Amino acid sequence: MEKFLVTSALPYANGKLHIGHVAGAYLPADIFVRFQKLQKNDVLYVCGTDEHGAPISIKAEKEGVKPEDIVERYHTSIKGSFDGLGFNFDNFSGTARAQHHKLSQHFFTSLLENKFITIKTNDQFYCEQCKRFLADRYVEGICPHCGKEGARGDQCDHCGQLLDAIELGNPQCKICGSTPIIKATSHWFLELPKMEQQLKEWLETKKYWKDNVHRFIMNWLKEGLIERAITRDIDWGVPVPLEDSQGKVLYVWFDAPIGYISSTIEWANKIGQPEKWKEYWLDENTKLIHFIGKDNIPFHTIIWPAILMGQKEKYILPYDVPANEYLNLEGKKISTSNNYAIWVEDFLKYFDGEYLRYYLATNAPETKDSDFVWKEFQQKINSELANVLGNLANRTFSFSKKYFNGEIQRPENLSNNAADCLQKGYDLSKEIQDCYKNYKVRKVTQLGIQIVRNGNVFFDLTKPWVEVKNDKSKAAETLYVCSELLRIISIVFSPIIPNGMKKLRNILNLSSDFYWDNIENNQIQQTTIGEVKPLFPKIDDKAIEEQILLLETNTKTQKDSQDKVLKIEHKKEIDFEDFLKLEIRIVKIISAEKIKKSKKLLKLKVQFANEERDVVAGLSLHYKPEDLIDKKVTMLLNLKPRKIMGQLSQGMILAAEGVEGKLSVLIPEKDIIAGSLIS
Ligand code: 2FM
Ligand code: ZN
Repeated sequence: MEKFLVTSALPYANGKLHIGHVAGAYLPADIFVRFQKLQKNDVLYVCGTDEHGAPISIKAEKEGVKPEDIVERYHTSIKGSFDGLGFNFDNFSGTARAQHHKLSQHFFTSLLENKFITIKTNDQFYCEQCKRFLADRYVEGICPHCGKEGARGDQCDHCGQLLDAIELGNPQCKICGSTPIIKATSHWFLELPKMEQQLKEWLETKKYWKDNVHRFIMNWLKEGLIERAITRDIDWGVPVPLEDSQGKVLYVWFDAPIGYISSTIEWANKIGQPEKWKEYWLDENTKLIHFIGKDNIPFHTIIWPAILMGQKEKYILPYDVPANEYLNLEGKKISTSNNYAIWVEDFLKYFDGEYLRYYLATNAPETKDSDFVWKEFQQKINSELANVLGNLANRTFSFSKKYFNGEIQRPENLSNNAADCLQKGYDLSKEIQDCYKNYKVRKVTQLGIQIVRNGNVFFDLTKPWVEVKNDKSKAAETLYVCSELLRIISIVFSPIIPNGMKKLRNILNLSSDFYWDNIENNQIQQTTIGEVKPLFPKIDDKAIEEQILLLETNTKTQKDSQDKVLKIEHKKEIDFEDFLKLEIRIVKIISAEKIKKSKKLLKLKVQFANEERDVVAGLSLHYKPEDLIDKKVTMLLNLKPRKIMGQLSQGMILAAEGVEGKLSVLIPEKDIIAGSLIS
């Protein structure tokens, strides 16, 4: 029996989960874990949210809430998405938890005592407007390596290089947009050069790693390792465990991978065996496998192993780091900031999570970037799951119910053709086994579908609908072969679409407790087909068109509102007395009608206290008159009355421009009495 400790990159708790995440670090891991469990191996799968770092504190600042609130919101959302997709973590933790802080501080201290950490003074960007140092994502600029704009202080998304913020060209503070100055501050550095030799020797033994991972590391090592700052001047994170280090926290990439260990410890505590985590992390027989996306390669192959090597305890080092490339969407890069993404929670409102699992498995970015295309998604599901797999199941089951009372019996002697067809199934299942071991999930789906196609061909060739009238035993043999092939597929596809395969096994009346090892020796002898339910309903064109439209509108909406934010031009300062001159009150609209010959104007009557007033408002393109009635809106009352298109206007209804240029009237958040003054 082998022992695996499997991890998926801890997702930042600063946003929802999208399909790109799923394809990169999560689905491949969940599939691998399920496969290894089927092999009766000892597998532990841990994850959790990455709850520190600039992205979270920036978001909190922008929303005016505490970082803890952001963490809580997205931890719940991300966990919900994982559950919806059936991810089978043994534990899902979070790095803001006390126990994780303690462990991270212990890691820091241990490195310090072993002299792998030193304190140095260095130059950092400092924003004079915001009065603080701009760590990592608090600053953006031009990447010194590839020249692209929008590189963040810690890493360039375009070329993947890790950066020192100070190297950025044309730096800008992410919070206020101003240009920072350079100021000295002191930080603790991980002495990677001291560990270079040891790291190189260790990496030499990793020739079996995926090509893309290997290439990346070799390029990195070529440039020689440099010291890396592992502390930051921000107030959200694990506090540096030293006196006189107030206001400094550990760099998020220092503490995040330690989250793999703290999540394992949390798991051990939960199962009431607090020491059990050691059986994984301190036993050299454990194969530690980190599933990640390609931007995480340097952290998991160099920095994290260095952190582990510098500890007093003898932790295991990563056995494999099967990083995936990126998933694009309809030919373009997924962009969370432009809302150009498919969010898992949205997907699950329309489709079964297993459809996403299956399509992403057929289309996994294993060796190069791949593309999610809605029409291809529909086509894959409809052709492979519905037409090929669903069809074999459906025709086998309904035929068997109709002519054999649902009884499936292994014939005493199989004809050569039948035996050949089955043997091909067993042979393919062995190939599939190797593919799973080597993270080749795309190939698994191709070979699996081949098994089912062979079944459909066998059904067509042996024509049970004819044979049932001539030689019933021949028809029975066909049904046996097809059921047996369905049993094989129910095992080999269960890591990818576990629920669908569970349903299939239910109909076949097979145990839900099954393993892979004896696929060939565990053939169906006799079974009775249970209640037949549709396995994979087809996706119709309308559902896909709706999604395509949704993607376009979401992106456009987001883009419009972003552009507007950037184009603010401030007006001249006024005195408070000037403000006091304005009489702005909440009023209730009691009638609304179009003004003849005007496309844009509406004539409104409003009421407040004991008064009524007429007012002309340019709202006709944005509201139907009847939708405005009874709304309590905001109005400037002491604007000099004037005539507009022959109508008297005694004030002005206040409105703001929203997305796509749509005007919105301003409605108070709570119920307010008409007449109340805005002050
Ligand atoms: O890139 C990311 O989303 C990081 N939050 C991944 C962290 S992986 C680990 F080390 F925890
Ligand atoms: Zn600033």
